[in-house]
Amino acid sequence: MSRKINWGIIGLGKIAHKFAEDLLLHVDANLYAVASRSLAKAESFSKQFHSETFYGSYRTLTEDPKIDVVYIATPHVFHYENTMMCLEAGKAVLCEKAFGMNSKEVEKMIAKAEEKKVFLMEALWTRFIPATEKVLELLNSGLIGDLKTLRADFGFKADFDPEKRLFNKKLGGGSLLDIGIYPIFLSLLTLGIPKKMKASAVMSFTGVDKSVMMLFDYESNQTAILDSSLVVSTPGEAWFHGDKGSLKLYPKFHQAKQISFYKDQELKETYRINYKGNGYFHEIKEVIDCLKVGKTESEKMPHIFSLNLMHILDRVRAEIGLSYWEESE
Ligand SMILES: NC(=O)c1ccc[n+]([C@@H]2O[C@H](COP(=O)([O-])OP(=O)(O)OC[C@H]3O[C@@H](n4cnc5c(N)ncnc54)[C@H](OP(=O)(O)O)[C@@H]3O)[C@@H](O)[C@H]2O)c1
Repeated sequence: MSRKINWGIIGLGKIAHKFAEDLLLHVDANLYAVASRSLAKAESFSKQFHSETFYGSYRTLTEDPKIDVVYIATPHVFHYENTMMCLEAGKAVLCEKAFGMNSKEVEKMIAKAEEKKVFLMEALWTRFIPATEKVLELLNSGLIGDLKTLRADFGFKADFDPEKRLFNKKLGGGSLLDIGIYPIFLSLLTLGIPKKMKASAVMSFTGVDKSVMMLFDYESNQTAILDSSLVVSTPGEAWFHGDKGSLKLYPKFHQAKQISFYKDQELKETYRINYKGNGYFHEIKEVIDCLKVGKTESEKMPHIFSLNLMHILDRVRAEIGLSYWEESE
């Protein structure tokens, strides 16, 4: 495909605004259409980001023949339904994390993408930022020897509103699926699938987890100590400890701009690695690069990775006794 890629966005909330800013930075991206449940909201978003058209229904957007790829930015509980609708219409999909509510949903989304032979990827943008690429390179180079332990956290003090998606069970609320997914993602990327896990959560009266602590054990005696919180603000750093040194990914590992190398607690070197725009530029580039050569999945964020990630989230939820109403259906 030599022309620009026509993007559609559905669900015009907070992240959709940040994402649209980065879409405008890519020379091969054209923000073609946006859709909201409210036509007025779609029109206002369209004016702000100069999309060619706008719709007051998600389905109508997927029926537009000019759309190449749809970015889904609705709350997690709708990811399955929205993704299936786009794939059914033959549209490529970039869907926000958490990809679905459980691994059954993710399995069906992947099966549908394979059946329709269209591109599907989870919008786990941290995978694509240059600092993540650099930390993988440093770990593979043997700089810190054999990786033994990962410690990573993601916590912020969220405004409590039982109706809004962070604490609302009907909208897939809770810290685990919203931000706990980031440290788990990093553990899966660098250590693989845990052999054993322990997890403990503090629950909100709305029935979702306010915070979760997780301890993962791996076959080769490696460990990961991870946590997420919607109650307290935490450093958000990731520390990789090996038998020859440590690497710190910071200031917030999910949007890192620096990596420091320590030996015996002594700082040896700091690498400064910025990302472009709000950081979403890099996942946008990945999608465009894949679509241009006709790929139906990304090698950096393949379907199996998203499925394994969701399996781990399922296992943590089983440990903390958190299930969502959708799963009983
Ligand atoms: N990658 C990242 O850095 C990042 C950051 C934040 C969030 N996220 C992910 O992006 C998704 C959206 O998060 P957000 O913070 O943008 O949420 P948000 O501000 O609440 O926006 C979600 C949008 O979804 C649509 N929606 C459809 N049905 C809805 C319903 N019943 N209730 C509420 N909204 C509904 C609404 O758009 P319309 O009114 O236009 O239809 C709403 O504006 C989540 O899955 C989250 O995990 C990712």
